[in-house]
Amino acid sequence: MEKQPNTTIIALVGKGGVGKTSLSAMTVRLLSEAYPDKKILAIDADPAIGLSTALGVDVVSTVDDIRKSFVQTVEDGNKNAAIELLGEAKYQMFDALIELGNVSFLAIGRPESAGCYCKVNAYLKEIISMIADHFDYVVIDGEAGIEQVNRRVMEKVTHLLLVSDGSRKGLQVVQTIHQVASELVMFDKAGLIVNRMPDMSLLDRLDYGDLKLLACIPDDRDMVLNDLNGESVFCLPESSGIYQGCKKALVELGII
Ligand SMILES: Nc1ncnc2c1ncn2[C@@H]1O[C@H](COP(=O)(O)OP(=O)(O)OP(=O)(O)O)[C@@H](O)[C@H]1O
Ligand SMILES: [Mg+2]
Repeated sequence: MEKQPNTTIIALVGKGGVGKTSLSAMTVRLLSEAYPDKKILAIDADPAIGLSTALGVDVVSTVDDIRKSFVQTVEDGNKNAAIELLGEAKYQMFDALIELGNVSFLAIGRPESAGCYCKVNAYLKEIISMIADHFDYVVIDGEAGIEQVNRRVMEKVTHLLLVSDGSRKGLQVVQTIHQVASELVMFDKAGLIVNRMPDMSLLDRLDYGDLKLLACIPDDRDMVLNDLNGESVFCLPESSGIYQGCKKALVELGII
């Protein structure tokens, strides 16, 4: 795969359950529609795994599987093989990618014990640096909370999409993430999407500090049906609130 000169790396972060995965998947859909000739990589960075379902892909091999086979070889004392493997890891990553049209997909996977998770996060960070520049656009569906920003997994991100619901807690979390990311991540642009807003007339009551509000998405019946039917975001109508709101946010950030 050739390297691409300017990769746009978009990460979606925020509190649990606010719509990061749905909006990551919608971002992938909108990018693939806007740029059918560009290469897009979707990364599910959440061990709870959800982006594959939202995109309608079946995960075969994850970053954690590759990490485990690597660790096993090192533990077996096969140092030469380990060095070779390190070079090979990159190709294994490319093999692990699932492709649908111009979209490739990679999942971090689910380590069995909590202790493994920081290792797989460190691995994920390496992978992002290794393979991101082979794509024009990378969309990262982050784990809930601030951990991956703290651990600099998001180091190379160019666009930070802060996702919240209309709750005080959700809005506090995105402001904290934004603050920490400003110190640790070299992003160019950041903005807020308020999702699942039950009453749009309450918008001016929300306190989101100095964050730039890109879009406010209502609690969307189409999205509820899409979820109940187990469908991918590609099945959502263009008229749906989540399609329109996500599009507005990406336009505001100058991405599409
Ligand atoms: N605008 C919306 N209107 C109605 N339902 C929505 C909307 N956005 C997301 N949902 C629903 O809310 C639930 C949580 O969304 P999602 O999984 O995208 O959140 P998340 O932030 O990724 O959660 P987690 O932190 O658990 O990964 C899902 O059932 C999804 O279908
Ligand atoms: Mg999620």
